[in-house]
Amino acid sequence: MIVYLNGAFLPAEKACLSPLDRGFLFGDGIYEVIPSYQGAFFLLDEHLERLRRSLREIRMPEPQPEKGWAAVLAELLERNPGGDRSVYLQLTRGSAPRDHAFPAAAAATEFAMVSPIAPLSVDLAERGFAAITLPDQRWGRCDIKSVALLPNVLARQHAVEQGAVEAILLRGGKLTEGAASNVFVVLGGAVVTPALGPEILPGITRRFLLDALRNEGWDCREEPVLESTLRSADEIWLTSSTKELLPVTVLDGRPVGTGRPGPMWGRALDVFQRARERSMATPATGAE
Ligand SMILES: Cc1ncc(COP(=O)(O)O)c(C=O)c1O
Repeated sequence: MIVYLNGAFLPAEKACLSPLDRGFLFGDGIYEVIPSYQGAFFLLDEHLERLRRSLREIRMPEPQPEKGWAAVLAELLERNPGGDRSVYLQLTRGSAPRDHAFPAAAAATEFAMVSPIAPLSVDLAERGFAAITLPDQRWGRCDIKSVALLPNVLARQHAVEQGAVEAILLRGGKLTEGAASNVFVVLGGAVVTPALGPEILPGITRRFLLDALRNEGWDCREEPVLESTLRSADEIWLTSSTKELLPVTVLDGRPVGTGRPGPMWGRALDVFQRARERSMATPATGAE
């Protein structure tokens, strides 16, 4: 695997970082995961926009690779030929003597790598996925795509140990999101997802799905989802850049709706995929 590190493309095993890197010491950095299909990025501009927003929120100047991010990421994809893949891009506040406050001068660390996107198997699309609920123990700025993910790691591990694909998080009796996904519920024909705010990540897939469904006249609402509503939903879906749109059919060991992927999920996936094809037919500008 060829990775990108601080301006160079090199084999992963040759890529070295200082142990004083603030990403390593403090989790002082942010990241993006950008999907690509058949060599072309999907919603690249939106991901780069969110990257800039995360940087602003942590008061970190944007490192500007000479070629621009779009060209760097495109080159990384080319150097790692394969099927559908996601690019992980991480920026940290760089390496400096350990002190919590920002270093007076430190060059940001820029790192990117490529991972395969596993297609949804027919079997899983027919059965759906299990999820568990857990208390949301994360910090108060989950809208920043921070690399400090320990609560998400612990939540996801709980899920895996219980044979579930995702942990769905609850705070103050309300749904927030998944450990690595946004969550939608279907209630009597309406599609509902928590409104944006500091408690959830503004998911790129979430936004794209909402826009695509609304364009086709679906009733979509962004409003609080009570735990009781989640538990009585007809359908539950997860969205993320690498999962696209997954149906949750078992929550905490109990069936969601009929216990099979719901009819609204199948139609929503179709709307999503058609909108994605249209969007990819109009290439991203990579505007920086
Ligand atoms: C906590 C969390 N929420 C939501 C998402 C989905 O965001 P996106 O659709 O931009 O991938 C992710 C993605 O990894 C995430 O980690």
